[in-house]
Amino acid sequence: MCNEAIVFSNKPEGVVLEAGREYYICACGRSKDGIFCDGSHKVTSCVPKKVVVEKTKPYLICLCKASKNFPFCDGTHSQYADTDIGKGV
Ligand code: FES
Repeated sequence: MCNEAIVFSNKPEGVVLEAGREYYICACGRSKDGIFCDGSHKVTSCVPKKVVVEKTKPYLICLCKASKNFPFCDGTHSQYADTDIGKGV
């Protein structure tokens, strides 16, 4: 987790990740889709989280950017209200 991250959403998103492929998941909460890094973190000290999965299947990606199991959802989003979106985690 990055201490300059902002809450992109207070719900996770199911995303199919392919086995063996490298993904860079947005950790700053500023990318356009909130899921994949698009370089928007450059205004912060955040860096994306590289992930490679072993199985091709849907994964619940953390969009509150505060999961202890980032980039995967651990339920932490339940502590954020709609009014927390766009604010610091
Ligand atoms: S855009 Fe968020 S980590 Fe790169």
